[in-house]
Amino acid sequence: MRGGVGLCILLFSAAIAGGQAPAPANQAKPTGDNKYVGSQVCQDCHSEITDTFYKNPHNKSIVSQKEPPERTGCEGCHGPGGQHYAAGDGSSIIAFPKIPKEQVLDTCLGCHSQTLSRANIRRSSHTVNGIVCTNCHSVHSSPAPKNLLARTQTNLCYSCHTNVRAQFSLPFKHRVNEGFMNCTDCHNPHGAPQPTWANATRPRMVEHSKANEESCMNCHADKRGPFVFEHSPVRVDGCLSCHVPHGSTNSRMLTRPVVFTMCLECHNNAGNLGRQADGVKTQARAPHNMANPLFQNCTQCHVRIHGSNADLRYFR
Ligand code: HEC
Ligand code: HEC
Ligand code: HEC
Ligand code: HEC
Ligand code: HEC
Ligand code: HEC
Ligand code: HEC
Ligand code: HEC
Ligand code: HEC
Ligand code: HEC
Repeated sequence: MRGGVGLCILLFSAAIAGGQAPAPANQAKPTGDNKYVGSQVCQDCHSEITDTFYKNPHNKSIVSQKEPPERTGCEGCHGPGGQHYAAGDGSSIIAFPKIPKEQVLDTCLGCHSQTLSRANIRRSSHTVNGIVCTNCHSVHSSPAPKNLLARTQTNLCYSCHTNVRAQFSLPFKHRVNEGFMNCTDCHNPHGAPQPTWANATRPRMVEHSKANEESCMNCHADKRGPFVFEHSPVRVDGCLSCHVPHGSTNSRMLTRPVVFTMCLECHNNAGNLGRQADGVKTQARAPHNMANPLFQNCTQCHVRIHGSNADLRYFR
């Protein structure tokens, strides 16, 4: 590496040193004589991009004139334009579709690692599966100006997660397809920290709400408690032990069509569950005779199923 000027060049050189594929001919070369020329120069030949760039949040660095050249305007992302300008063709400039994904990530994170946690984004399933910034963001031709998304959010996510669209079309669902809420109300596509609920078994890039709780609490705060009498799966295993988050054919988005079959997954004869550690007695003559339809509608009696401040069996 010689005479590394600026961030992008440094990163690029590091990528080469790290054994990446050899650079295609048209990329900025890590030489000392490739100078920064400033964004005004680009206007001569790329007016279709520069004419609308004033709307782009990345225009701020040009306007402020406070950033060093390697962090200003076009060259903040595309690297120094000196050789490219001199050549007058498509060569010697960083072209994002042609560089390794790792380098795309590094370039964008060069400025964005303060708001986006570098650690989370690197081990997120998106990064691990080769989905990087430019798969979701379009710097120059975003139809949704906010967040520079390549498409409107729901369509963006569905373009790869086609099966999820069907889940949000089931009879009982969160109204995402209706535009009432977004995937990012629950997910962080940039990677979420390890969760503290559900024994950290199913991260799925589910966003945290305050105090490291499930994102569900952002809207369903009444289920948060604390309750004098907690129903422990609500707090320990999380909402997903009884609910399907996207949509379901079962009312209340429950995991099973009939409520009692779900309860009996945990509260069965065999178990040693309950404060008496004797499980729920479900045979004839026991308090819960399952042959009696009355007892099949568990939440008819145990109404405060998410926890109660008044009754240890959640009757009220
Ligand atoms: C003298 C004219 C000229 C100037 C000035 C110029 N470019 Fe280019 N640029 C071209 C030509 C010609 C191409 C190839 C055709 C095309 O993609 O439009 C190109 C292509 C590009 C590409 C795409 C490369 C690829 O492989 O797809 C990028 C990115 C680019 N220019 C960035 C810049 C930036 C940033 C500046 C300002 C620092 C700049 N250009 C200044 C002429 C110019
Ligand atoms: C925030 C980073 C960033 C900045 C700043 C930026 N670009 Fe780009 N540019 C990209 C990316 C990423 C692409 C690849 C296409 C895409 O994903 O939208 C691209 C593509 C291009 C292309 C290839 C043609 C095309 O439309 O795809 C040209 C030319 C170009 N940029 C010129 C410029 C000029 C001129 C400026 C300054 C006015 C500029 N860029 C500022 C990231 C940036
Ligand atoms: C899987 C798709 C996806 C990928 C990959 C992705 N983003 Fe995003 N990004 C989004 C969505 C969706 C939003 C809008 C979030 C919202 O509406 O709350 C967003 C918002 C942002 C924002 C503005 C809000 C914020 O959180 O600060 C920035 C900056 C950003 N992304 C940068 C990046 C960078 C840099 C990368 C790569 C390191 C990247 N994104 C990768 C989908 C993605
Ligand atoms: C030279 C520094 C720099 C680089 C490199 C950079 N950004 Fe940015 N980006 C910024 C700044 C500054 C803002 C404006 C933040 C603000 O509004 O305060 C911004 C804003 C954004 C936003 C938010 C738009 C919004 O509506 O809030 C997105 C998305 C984004 N950048 C994506 C990218 C992507 C993708 C890349 C890589 C191709 C990239 N950035 C590279 C500095 C940079
Ligand atoms: C109400 C909150 C919520 C919303 C809104 C939401 N998700 Fe999810 N999603 C979750 C939770 C919680 C999980 C974890 C499920 C599990 O581990 O069983 C998950 C799991 C996933 C998975 C991985 C599991 C699988 O089925 O492959 C994908 C992919 C996914 N969501 C995509 C999306 C997309 C795309 C959107 C928007 C169209 C979206 N989600 C909206 C809460 C939500
Ligand atoms: C360019 C394709 C692409 C786009 C766009 C995309 N994803 Fe993904 N996503 C993937 C791939 C690939 C995986 C990893 C394989 C899998 O689990 O399906 C993944 C995984 C996930 C997972 C599962 C995480 C896990 O740990 O299992 C969630 C949740 C998710 N994406 C949400 C979203 C959301 C929300 C959006 C929109 C903001 C989005 N994705 C946009 C390709 C994409
Ligand atoms: C952005 C706010 C928001 C978030 C986050 C959210 N929900 Fe909801 N949820 C709603 C709204 C609003 C309704 C009312 C149903 C509707 O959309 O008509 C609802 C309804 C429900 C219902 C009842 C459905 C029915 O058929 O009556 C359940 C169960 C539920 N949510 C569970 C969850 C779970 C579990 C999570 C976390 C994975 C979650 N919610 C995250 C807003 C949210
Ligand atoms: C032990 C199983 C279980 C767990 C865990 C659970 N729920 Fe429920 N939830 C139910 C049952 C059963 C119903 C239906 C009650 C009825 O119809 O009488 C329900 C109904 C709901 C409803 C719709 C009716 C209402 O009370 O508002 C929402 C919203 C809801 N749950 C959200 C959540 C959230 C958020 C979590 C996680 C904090 C959660 N649930 C955890 C069993 C559970
Ligand atoms: C994921 C497992 C699980 C599911 C599903 C579940 N529970 Fe529980 N339930 C528990 C655990 C664990 C306790 C706490 C026992 C303790 O405190 O020792 C508990 C406690 C209770 C108690 C209080 C027990 C006592 O000894 O006072 C009642 C009543 C109860 N559950 C009813 C229900 C009903 C009704 C359903 C179905 C809507 C249900 N549970 C679904 C695991 C579950
Ligand atoms: C008709 C009202 C009613 C219905 C319906 C009902 N229960 Fe109960 N449940 C009770 C009463 C009353 C008690 C207290 C019994 C006792 O103390 O011996 C109780 C106690 C419990 C306990 C605590 C048992 C223990 O050993 O401490 C659990 C767990 C429980 N019920 C779960 C369920 C489940 C699961 C269903 C559905 C299959 C259900 N209940 C349906 C009235 C009902």
